[in-house]
Amino acid sequence: MAQQDACTLLDDDHNQVVRLFQQYKSAHQDNQKLLLARQICHELDVHTRIEEEIFYPAFRQAVGDEALVQESVHEHQEAKALIAKIEAASRPEDKVMLDLEDAILHHVNDEREKMFPQARKARNLDLFQLADQLQQRKAELMAAHPA
Ligand SMILES: [Fe+2]
Ligand SMILES: [Fe+2]
Repeated sequence: MAQQDACTLLDDDHNQVVRLFQQYKSAHQDNQKLLLARQICHELDVHTRIEEEIFYPAFRQAVGDEALVQESVHEHQEAKALIAKIEAASRPEDKVMLDLEDAILHHVNDEREKMFPQARKARNLDLFQLADQLQQRKAELMAAHPA
C-alpha cells in the first residue's frame, strides 16, 4: 500500500517538473537544454496520461465536478500542443519552453487549489489505493518509453 495519497504523489511529479524548468532556465549549452526539454516533455507526457487514465475518472465519479475535469483536460491539451512543438524541434526553443512553463504552473495551481482539496474531502475516494494504481501505471509507462 502506498505511503502517501494520490494528490501528494501527483504533486511530487509537479515539483519535479518545476525543478527541471529551473534547470532549463539556468542551462547555457544547447545540448544540455535539449536534454532537459526532452526530459520535461517525457515527464509531462507520463504525468498527464496517468491523470487522464486514472485520477480524473476517479475524481469525476467521486466528486462529480465535471466542469473542473473538462477544464483540466483542456489545459492538458494546450500543454500537449506545446510539447509536440518542442519534441519536433531539433534545437531548444526557449520561447516555447517559457510558454509551456507558464501553462504548467497555471495548471498545477488549479490542481492544487481546486482539485486536490475536493478529492481529499470526498468520502468515497480511496486516495491511497489510487496512489498505488498511479504508481504502477507510471512505472509501466516509464519502462515502455525511457526518457
Ligand atoms: Fe498534475
Ligand atoms: Fe494535470
